[in-house]
Amino acid sequence: MGVDFDSVNKAFSKQSHHYDKDDEENIILQWMRKVVRGHVLNYLKKGDRILELNAGTGLDALYFSSRGHTVHATDLAEGMVSAINEKISKANAVQKLSCEQCSYTELNKIKQPPFNYVFSNFGGLNCIPDLMEVIKHLPLLLAPGAYVTFVVMPPVCPWEMSFMLRGNFKGAFRRFNKGGVKAHLEGEYFQTYYFTPSEVVKAFGKDFKKISLQGLASISPPPHNIKFQQKFPRAYSKLTKVDEKLSFVYPFNSWADHFILTMQYKGV
Ligand SMILES: C[S@@+](CC[C@H](N)C(=O)[O-])C[C@H]1O[C@@H](n2cnc3c(N)ncnc32)[C@H](O)[C@@H]1O
Repeated sequence: MGVDFDSVNKAFSKQSHHYDKDDEENIILQWMRKVVRGHVLNYLKKGDRILELNAGTGLDALYFSSRGHTVHATDLAEGMVSAINEKISKANAVQKLSCEQCSYTELNKIKQPPFNYVFSNFGGLNCIPDLMEVIKHLPLLLAPGAYVTFVVMPPVCPWEMSFMLRGNFKGAFRRFNKGGVKAHLEGEYFQTYYFTPSEVVKAFGKDFKKISLQGLASISPPPHNIKFQQKFPRAYSKLTKVDEKLSFVYPFNSWADHFILTMQYKGV
């Protein structure tokens, strides 16, 4: 697949040391996380077993386990896995929350199926060019009727495209690059890839049916534009209200900073 997993691991391991602080301080990220969790809670049932992919420092894993679900959190980056383990011992959550270093391209190594829910938040899946490398493992891990929610970055992000108005054509269309876009994180470089919702639905294939598609930050700015929120907090808050109203309607469900796609496994 040509993915530089080593650089991805190094970059996110370095980021793990300040990840939670950055997340907590960024009001845009807080709003986005709230919307994602609300979406997932629509489909989670009491006592469901969740497998989380690219779980980062385990913010969502801890949240869902504290609501009574059993969560197995996985991530490629050693630093992220250590951060999750710290949370497990601090919260004394060992009964409900477990953790394993595992790339989502190697889910055949996961030992505890069946799961009722697979969850991946905030573009972790944008680090590979072909999502079938992940999805091909899911039928072995899922109970019939299980849900899968992927939060993925699409090529069309209206806020970024507005850069065009300021003459920044490169920034406006950067996500359209067919071979992916080079990310620079914590002194490491690796390739990232953008997917339309229909490309992701197609990658799931005939064993899954599409349940819901929701846009996340179509009109309101993405997290890296936090200066807009800091300068114009009331305007920002109004934009998020518009986003919340339109997020299930085309094209706002597809043209956004991220989209939230939920699929259901039909089972065999
Ligand atoms: C932007 S962070 C999102 C983390 C978390 N889901 C959250 O909501 O905070 C992306 C995460 O994807 C992880 N990641 C990247 N490539 C991965 C892979 N091949 N397998 C598993 N995790 C991966 C990174 O280590 C990082 O923790």
